[in-house]
Amino acid sequence: MLKDSPRAYGRLTRTLHWLVAVLVVTQLSSVFVNAVWKDNAFSQAIFPWHTTIGGGVLILMTARTLWALSQRRQRPRHAGRLQRLAIGGHIVMYALLILMPLSGALMTWGMGYGVHVFGKAWFEGADAPWAASFGGLHGTFAWLLTLMIVGHVCMALYHHFRLRDGTLRRMLGPTPD
Ligand code: HEM
Ligand code: HEM
Repeated sequence: MLKDSPRAYGRLTRTLHWLVAVLVVTQLSSVFVNAVWKDNAFSQAIFPWHTTIGGGVLILMTARTLWALSQRRQRPRHAGRLQRLAIGGHIVMYALLILMPLSGALMTWGMGYGVHVFGKAWFEGADAPWAASFGGLHGTFAWLLTLMIVGHVCMALYHHFRLRDGTLRRMLGPTPD
């Protein structure tokens, strides 16, 4: 099933979830691994693709937000005490996943370098200190997103191994109709 249902996330939601997850974890780990192991081969391979991967995340997250809004009435529901925390946490992650590439693009644009994504210069650089200073939050957003992802993965594993409910399975799919 392409669409979500109250029992499981559909194929499109799952594809978008795991595609964005792989891109974002690659992006973040390339920077963090480089901090402890300077100029390692993995980070060196990813860095030239940093803005393009970020641009891809922005496109995917725009599509994902529109899709999530269209599916919100038929998605699996959250139950129990942590219901509000789960919904709030997912909304914060959506916001950070959009703010990450936007702040990166504003930073490079405002500092006069221009925005180069997919091998093309989309915007020439400008002297825009407001954009450069908003873009300065790029690193802070990255730390917040990392914390959210660590908490998110811990909760997914807690659901699976402790609560033994179907929370992880409905994002892994496919589930029998
Ligand atoms: C999912 C999207 C993105 C993620 C997760 C991400 C992550 C990061 C991280 C963790 C850093 C290191 C921050 C620091 O050292 O404080 C960084 C730096 C940087 N990012 Fe991104 N980024 C993304 C998208 C983009 C985009 C779309 C652009 C530009 C179009 C961009 C441009 C930059 C630049 C220029 C730096 C170096 C900034 C500096 O050294 O202060 N990023 N990014
Ligand atoms: C091993 C890594 C991961 C696992 C096991 C995992 C697991 C899950 C599960 C089980 C759900 C469904 C939760 C529910 O229905 O209550 C979910 C949803 C979600 N996950 Fe992950 N996830 C992982 C990585 C990530 C990463 C890296 C991100 C962010 C880049 C992310 C962002 C989200 C968001 C925003 C949702 C809300 C549902 C949606 O609209 O797609 N996840 N995840």
